[in-house]
Amino acid sequence: MQAWQLEKLGGDLRLIDRPIPQARPGSVVVRMDASALMSYMQPYVEGRLPIYHAPDQPFIPGGNGVGVVHAVGADVWHLKPGQRVLISSYVVAQENVDEPGRFLLGITAAGPVAEEMQADWPDGTLAEYALLPATAVTPAEGLPEISAADLATLMRYVVPYGGLLRGRLAAGETLVVSGATGAYGTAAVLLGLAMGAARVVAIGRNAKTLQAIAVAGGPRVTPVAVTGDIATDAARIRAAAGGGAHLAFDMVGGATDPNMTLAALRSLRHEGRLVLMGSMTVPLPISYLELMLNGWEVIGNFMYPRQAYGRLLDLVRSGQLDLGPIRPRTLPLSELPQAMALAGKAGNFECVVMLHQR
Ligand SMILES: NC(=O)c1ccc[n+]([C@@H]2O[C@H](COP(=O)([O-])OP(=O)(O)OC[C@H]3O[C@@H](n4cnc5c(N)ncnc54)[C@H](OP(=O)(O)O)[C@@H]3O)[C@@H](O)[C@H]2O)c1
Repeated sequence: MQAWQLEKLGGDLRLIDRPIPQARPGSVVVRMDASALMSYMQPYVEGRLPIYHAPDQPFIPGGNGVGVVHAVGADVWHLKPGQRVLISSYVVAQENVDEPGRFLLGITAAGPVAEEMQADWPDGTLAEYALLPATAVTPAEGLPEISAADLATLMRYVVPYGGLLRGRLAAGETLVVSGATGAYGTAAVLLGLAMGAARVVAIGRNAKTLQAIAVAGGPRVTPVAVTGDIATDAARIRAAAGGGAHLAFDMVGGATDPNMTLAALRSLRHEGRLVLMGSMTVPLPISYLELMLNGWEVIGNFMYPRQAYGRLLDLVRSGQLDLGPIRPRTLPLSELPQAMALAGKAGNFECVVMLHQR
């Protein structure tokens, strides 16, 4: 089979021939059809992202995708060859302990247990076949009309879905999405609608992109372009929300100031929730008294629960989540270098997807 092999972060990335992996206990081998590229794949492989830790040996990068089960190992009871599946990069150890290890397959691991897990499962999905822990795989049957490329874009939704579930978004609530113009932020707006939010206030700095999100989302979406002044922005968001919001979901990327996140926090009603899933290069100054007096909940969240892909598929099957607005831009697996460059520049409605079979 063809596979992309990365010598190490910042090392040589090469398309090589390797034997199709053999299934081992607890694993599945998936014949890959499509996978979505992370926007930061290029700086990742070039070793320019210092917090990432890759396996201590040449490995196949890439952590998600869509394919068909080719073989299953011993101790795998539900998955069968021929089944269409979605692959998650987020792998959590299955042992019955309080704090199971977790790592991002084909991407990174942090901490001793995670690094041991990564050493056991060094390879990701940027190949024609992938060897995966069975827990990384979710059956995706019953959607024959949806192409593998379209299904691969679910990777864009599954990350914010984790935060919206963690923030307990309920049907009929008002949701504020801060960082709505970003890749995951736009998906969060669309998912909030799919999950039954009565209103979604999409906030960001780029009025034109916000307008496009409002058009894609329909009448329940109100865009608010922020000014940078926290009090002014919080008042505008509250007005757009018809009063204080129930939940604010924050997905800013590398923000160098905390103003928009604080405006989102201050747009909350009494006992509202703020979920933090993005990143900020400066501290987030929150007043102890303000939190306490308003009864606000601030929740940091990494990734999503194991059932997330299955539940997302249910939203797609029921017609609640329309995969239409975020379009895949497909390239063959052999064109990974070009695809990484495109992924870095892709807009919020575009998802660069590799097609794995020749
Ligand atoms: N928690 C998790 O499990 C998890 C998983 C995956 C990724 N992430 C994090 O998610 C973040 C977002 O990823 P992405 O791919 O969606 O990034 P992205 O497409 O680059 O979007 C980043 C967004 O942040 C906004 N932004 C940046 N600085 C800002 C500031 N100072 N004020 C207001 N808005 C600001 C951008 O606004 P403009 O459009 O105006 O520039 C844009 O909307 C990344 O930082 C990543 O590390 C977290």
